[in-house]
Amino acid sequence: MVKTIFVLNGPNLNLLGKREPEIYGTETLEDVRMRTEARAQQLGLAIDFRQSNNEGQLVDWVQEAREVADAIIMNAAGLTHTSVALLDALQAAELPVVEVHLSNIFRRDPFRQHSYISLGANGVICGLGAKGYELAVEAVADIIIKQGS
Ligand code: DQA
Repeated sequence: MVKTIFVLNGPNLNLLGKREPEIYGTETLEDVRMRTEARAQQLGLAIDFRQSNNEGQLVDWVQEAREVADAIIMNAAGLTHTSVALLDALQAAELPVVEVHLSNIFRRDPFRQHSYISLGANGVICGLGAKGYELAVEAVADIIIKQGS
């Protein structure tokens, strides 16, 4: 059966392409979705790509992933730096998790340099723009293969 990765995007990422393009680039979230999906297809994986501006919705999706998905790629956006609830959900999910950020959060405001999500992630990719999502799919594929599941 084809393995499914939930790709979950947090607040304001629906504005990609319009939002601070000097930081986040000119590609839209739909462009990012297509790139991520293309890489997943090449690797024989399926993706379920979602975005929400609401923390509770993201927590619900992580809980859903626990039941139906094989891994999670998450760009929690601003919630990265605030959300213990999302961290708790990720830790409860007991799935491979790769955290992604378009921008290099370590080259930005000091408050962006701490991520709650990282405590629940196998790895973090940041600063590589939309390419980071493709790399996250590759990382997840490796983890799933190593797990042999
Ligand atoms: C982001 C980085 C976060 O600090 C910021 O709040 C975002 C996007 C990124 O992809 O670079 O909304 O997660």
